[in-house]
Amino acid sequence: MNHPTMQGTAPVNAPAWVKHPKLVAWVAEIAALTKPDHIYWCDGSQEEYERLCEQMVAAGTMKRLNPAKRKNSFLALSDPSDVARVEDRTFICSEKQEDAGPTNNWTAPAEMRQTLNGLFEGCMRGRTLYVVPFSMGPLGSPIAHIGVELSDSPYVAVNMRLMTRMGRAVYDVLGTNGEFVPCVHTVGKPLAAGEQDVAWPCNPTKYIVHFPETREIWSFGSGYGGNALLGKKCFALRIASTMGRDEGWLAEHMLILGVTSPEGKKYHVAAAFPSACGKTNFAMLIPPKGFEGWRVTTIGDDIAWIKPGQDGRLYAINPEAGYFGVAPGTSEKTNFNAMATLKENVIFTNVALTDDGDVWWEGMTKEAPAHLVDWQGKDWTPEIARATGAKAAHPNARFTAPASQCPSIDQNWDNPAGVPIDAFIFGGRRSTTVPLVTEARNWTEGVYMAATMGSETTAAAAGQQGVVRRDPFAMLPFCGYNMSDYFGHWLQLGQKLEAAGAKLPKIYCVNWFRKDADGNFVWPGFGENMRVLSWMIDRVEGKGQGAEHVFGTTPRYEDLNWNGLDFTPAQFTQVTSIDRDAWQQELALHDELFSKLRQHLPQALVETRAALGKRLEG
Ligand code: OXD
Ligand code: MN
Repeated sequence: MNHPTMQGTAPVNAPAWVKHPKLVAWVAEIAALTKPDHIYWCDGSQEEYERLCEQMVAAGTMKRLNPAKRKNSFLALSDPSDVARVEDRTFICSEKQEDAGPTNNWTAPAEMRQTLNGLFEGCMRGRTLYVVPFSMGPLGSPIAHIGVELSDSPYVAVNMRLMTRMGRAVYDVLGTNGEFVPCVHTVGKPLAAGEQDVAWPCNPTKYIVHFPETREIWSFGSGYGGNALLGKKCFALRIASTMGRDEGWLAEHMLILGVTSPEGKKYHVAAAFPSACGKTNFAMLIPPKGFEGWRVTTIGDDIAWIKPGQDGRLYAINPEAGYFGVAPGTSEKTNFNAMATLKENVIFTNVALTDDGDVWWEGMTKEAPAHLVDWQGKDWTPEIARATGAKAAHPNARFTAPASQCPSIDQNWDNPAGVPIDAFIFGGRRSTTVPLVTEARNWTEGVYMAATMGSETTAAAAGQQGVVRRDPFAMLPFCGYNMSDYFGHWLQLGQKLEAAGAKLPKIYCVNWFRKDADGNFVWPGFGENMRVLSWMIDRVEGKGQGAEHVFGTTPRYEDLNWNGLDFTPAQFTQVTSIDRDAWQQELALHDELFSKLRQHLPQALVETRAALGKRLEG
């Protein structure tokens, strides 16, 4: 059955395997607005993936890497203006402004629709519209949700194939009237007749727009990462967080890992860290010397969908199927499993090219190669770098790789039932003030810790770097509704589960990033984080010891296993000490946050703040 509707300049020509009239009509409607030259329905096959990659090689968007070094892998270099998520151009257009809340940019939906209609009118002229069907979560699972992205970027189509379950099977799940989240994306650079395309088309004007009530996403002007791969931040976090609010579950910016003890007992932990703070490294951790017999397995590295199960426990799935990780800093030493994941079938973006057709980035090896082509296509040598500070790879350079290639992948990573969570971890990047690890005394204090989390900004988002900003639950850029309502949702979920007699996961606040007076990290991090993780597991088992302080419980030096690591009590003090003056200032920053979030702010958090203040003074 074909649908040869002539709407825009291109016939819709839906293939016979698309049996969803509403979807076909929507594609026709968007094509009529955007006026692509062609419409292409992705089937998600390997053959299609290779064809689109070849096409981008011919167009100069990607380079094929040396197959002897990186089989079936490519390098894309973006426009230098299009290298990160654009938070100031990201909008939550709920009917009421208070539902978007003070942490989101808001415009009334009708006004935004008018703006978008103007921008999208004819925006795909000279290009192909790719219809990209995808499932967030295992295909057909009751916890998965389907989206369809219409994009004029083949780079988006191939990345979506790595990052989601993308292709024809999605239509089998959708049937004739299944629900899907419509996602419209354009690079915003129509081509006039005969106009030569550029390698990375984009537009200086950018809009990343969400309509939570109608569960729609519209993205204009960027081809990069979270701005363009709409299944990730836009759907799996911003839209899904509003679905979770309405339906009683959680969509979180969290990695999920499994820890198996030498006795064979398995635990699961979900951990929220802001972008570029080591979630992928933590998710793929290799236990260090002294932890023989322990195993850490990876379920997800960025996003968790968490739902209460029949037994009252919280079950988490990773809705993604690939990793879109930060390359710089990744090495065999910092993340052996990630490096092993990156051996083949990878798309690299904005890393440097070696003379033998491989990739390189800062931190990959101790010694930089003598010559590279940098992420902007310029010659790069260590001498040039010393003289000019030029980076070979952009600090937010990324790899896109299939999750299934990760050696530490958990056997349940795509189990539709998810894995039961024993502990939540929240961690920011803080060079001072926040101790290595603190266990919250109860759910409310844990929610308070997560809500008031601060972190130094990184290159994952455009803007100034290294400044401390409050990043509640690491969700500041990703919460699709009023942040105070989101806190309330967490509190209510905890209350509901507790009232039903469930044992709630423990909540921890961590900080791997304290620095000494010379600006060096004190805690070795990476695999050594296992020492903290195993203390948490002990606590879950009711065995681990610690000392109570104003904010909760912290291990004393003797409570951690130091086998295999030379870390002195003095160093431990440097990463765990609590400076009362610094904390007075920190609490003042919590007040500032709460004042900004006062509309709908749960009273329980205000009371927790007051109690903490009293304890700190006392
Ligand atoms: C990401 C981010 O890409 O958080 O995961 O920016
Ligand atoms: Mn992220």
